[in-house]
Amino acid sequence: MDESAPILLFDSGVGGLTVLAELRKLLPQAPVIYAADLAGLPYGEKTEAEIAARVAGLLGRMSERFRPRLITIACNTASTIALGMVREVLHVPIVGTVPAIKPAAALSRTGAIGLLGTAATVRQKYVDDLEREFAHGKRLIRHASPELVATAEAKLRGETPDPAVFAAAAAGLREQPGGEAIDTVVLACTHFPLVQDELRAALGDNVTFVDGAQGIARRVAYLTQGQGFLRSSPDVAVVTGDLARAQPLAAALKTYGLERLEPL
Ligand code: DGL
Repeated sequence: MDESAPILLFDSGVGGLTVLAELRKLLPQAPVIYAADLAGLPYGEKTEAEIAARVAGLLGRMSERFRPRLITIACNTASTIALGMVREVLHVPIVGTVPAIKPAAALSRTGAIGLLGTAATVRQKYVDDLEREFAHGKRLIRHASPELVATAEAKLRGETPDPAVFAAAAAGLREQPGGEAIDTVVLACTHFPLVQDELRAALGDNVTFVDGAQGIARRVAYLTQGQGFLRSSPDVAVVTGDLARAQPLAAALKTYGLERLEPL
């Protein structure tokens, strides 16, 4: 194994940074390429066919170009739709992101679990299957919030989030039958931990938030056990679309150790 071979982390936007932050704690030496499909953002408002085509096409191109040792799809929407398909065609280990329903079900005392995700994620059979397997006898209350994706992106561009967005997301859960009893909320979109403090203010201090970032980082560390890591140049973020539109993210990307911003 080439010690400078990177781990490729992929998301539609900045959401995957929440996974990168956890990965850095476990594998600080690992060279990382962070790829954001900003030209395709938001995935949550696209059809399954559009998402599958973009994810398969982009990951194919990037694995040829960057020769990663492992790919992490740090996006629930892309993973729940396209993980199986890309695993079949790419000869590189791929770690996906699965809505953290299992740990949430174990934590909930009231049995009422909220799930915030994109519209594309909340309608997936993948989520139905997780609910059946891990939240049997509990109530999983789903709410799609594309506004939270846009707000998390805006926050990392240095803009001030509009509190109405968080109030609406909270109401989307609380106003469904049984919603007042929700004590655990699955953040089933990697963007959402970026606005967890704001969501907490809207939902109340008694709610526990659960996301998959730590679990994904542990899985990546496990799959790369025994491999050497050598970062020979600063880590880079690559983005689709107009590079100038991504420039306002440069400062936030630097705080995650992504020193350079390049077009894909
Ligand atoms: N970060 C993505 C997720 O985890 C989706 C954001 C979007 O493109 O809609 O689902």
